[in-house]
Amino acid sequence: MHPADPSPHHAPADDAAPREAQPPPEPTDSSGSPTRREFVAQMSACTAGLLASPLLAQQTPEAPAFTGPGTLMKMAFKVNGHLCDLEIDTRTTLLDALREHLHLTGSKKGCDQGQCGACTVLVGGRRIVSCLTLAVMQQGHDVTTIEGLGTPDKLHPMQAAFVKHDGFQCGYCTPGQICSAVAMLREIKAGIPSHVTEDLTAFPQMSPTEMRERMSGNLCRCGAYSNIAEAITEVEKEGVL
Ligand code: FES
Ligand code: FES
Repeated sequence: MHPADPSPHHAPADDAAPREAQPPPEPTDSSGSPTRREFVAQMSACTAGLLASPLLAQQTPEAPAFTGPGTLMKMAFKVNGHLCDLEIDTRTTLLDALREHLHLTGSKKGCDQGQCGACTVLVGGRRIVSCLTLAVMQQGHDVTTIEGLGTPDKLHPMQAAFVKHDGFQCGYCTPGQICSAVAMLREIKAGIPSHVTEDLTAFPQMSPTEMRERMSGNLCRCGAYSNIAEAITEVEKEGVL
């Protein structure tokens, strides 16, 4: 038989083999642009190529693993007027030192990333978020937490004003709000300007705008802001700080 004979008896062997079912062809965009599936496939291929690139591997060195026992260090600082000696892992934040080592649980851990202000304490009278500072950095410093501002029998004026004006609901943000408000009023008294102070040559004056700006680092998920503002305004007007 002639090799060109189209007879099925002479079809090539692989033609005779059963064929695997093929997926239906991808619908193509009438504009000639790649379909969404093609685009995703292309991008995945690009990303895989980048990840395999030795250049990129050089630019992203492996992060050091923060595991293991760490280094212990002795430190001493004052907390609420009391001298405290600690031997502490150098990686411990001030917030964890206060809560876990000194059992002062008034300062709260909200975000642990410096975003919410729940952990605000005073160091040397200035407010800081204690989750973003290491305890060992406070060697020799004077730390005041909400427990050191007032007592249940003798509330600090700011604590009393928060109670009077219902400046809290769940209370989780409240220790941070109160510490922050106390330091904020002192900052204005000391003439420290904020981002919204218009005249930097004049002494800053308390105003709702100044208060909102200066307290903007303290979030309240319960939304007690208007009552918090009333409490702070009253304390500022009474001039008791
Ligand atoms: S817990 Fe420190 S700022 Fe949120
Ligand atoms: S009172 Fe609940 S978060 Fe402020």
